[in-house]
Amino acid sequence: MQTKWLSYKDEAAVTEAAELLQNGELVAFATETVYGLGADAMNESAVKKIFEAKGRPSDNPLIVHIYDQSQLDALVQDVSADAKRLMDAFWPGPLTIILPKKNNVPDATTGGLSTVAVRMPDHPAAQAILRASNVPVAAPSANLSGKPSPTTARDVFEDMNGRIPMLIDGGDCEVGVESTVVDMTRTPAMILRPGGVTREMMEDVIGPVEVHEAVLAPLASDAQAASPGMKYKHYAPKAHVRIITGDRAAERICELYDAAKKEGISTIIFSVSEEKELFGDRDFYAWGDLEDVASVAHHLFSSLRMADEKGYDQVLCHSVDTEGVGLAVMNRLVRAAGFDIEQA
Ligand code: TXA
Ligand code: MG
Repeated sequence: MQTKWLSYKDEAAVTEAAELLQNGELVAFATETVYGLGADAMNESAVKKIFEAKGRPSDNPLIVHIYDQSQLDALVQDVSADAKRLMDAFWPGPLTIILPKKNNVPDATTGGLSTVAVRMPDHPAAQAILRASNVPVAAPSANLSGKPSPTTARDVFEDMNGRIPMLIDGGDCEVGVESTVVDMTRTPAMILRPGGVTREMMEDVIGPVEVHEAVLAPLASDAQAASPGMKYKHYAPKAHVRIITGDRAAERICELYDAAKKEGISTIIFSVSEEKELFGDRDFYAWGDLEDVASVAHHLFSSLRMADEKGYDQVLCHSVDTEGVGLAVMNRLVRAAGFDIEQA
């Protein structure tokens, strides 16, 4: 299969993408978080193609994307007052809301759960194809299962070329990490996956919000995953990723780097631009700025993919603060590192 790579600014491309979706085919498209791999959420055989193309376990449920709240009627049983407040405050945007589903939403879409995850993306490319197709679109991140999520059309093409008929390019993803997933079927609400809409932002709107304990820690082996995505290995680049935290982190990173070099292990350091000098002439990549943790989120997955492209064996990452979007950064990073975190 030839994968067509077209811009959302091309009207004919949007029309063709919409027709593909209506006909049960897959289309990858830009959102403000990461690129999504979409199919008609109400078409079971279309949704099954997503799992095939990604190599994704079929019990891991998908997020359903809409462009207008009127589409909720077909998907969810009811929208609580707090859920409605969150929608009004943060949609369109990087927030996914879990609600009790209606029976007509196929099990393939929700991994057999009685709930469904819904999000209204805030990117003109996503909005254009959602509007043109007028179907709710189930879309996970458009990467091969287990690889870092794609934040550029090129990343998607690398993983999906030949597996899908079309890719709708919308440039680099602004947020750079996947949406916040919040469970609104319980009280208080609980964040299952942190993202661009932070706990602090939601608490301003609906009061106390909990954060699932598995957000920064491995899921206990006897625990039931609140979100099936929690139990899978995630965001793993080929390089060995290690996180160093604490007051002596920069010094310790230098020690580890120098020791690795002696053993012929090629290493790159990821930290904020303000720390560059601390690492001398060692291989270093500034993945953002100290006062702007959103800039680290924006570059996180692309820096991990870059390390693989350049063939590094090891990435030493300086931890970031878990305030605000920093929680989303650390949630992805601890998984990329297989929970290899050293306190220095
Ligand atoms: O930003 C995003 O959310 C991107 C873009 C494309 O919109 N999508 C995305 O999808 O990240 P995906 O499939 O990679 O992640 C969906 C996450 C998984 O961790 C899944 O387990 C969880 O949401 N999820 C989906 N439906 C759920 C449900 N009903 N209950 C609990 N967790 C659910
Ligand atoms: Mg994903």
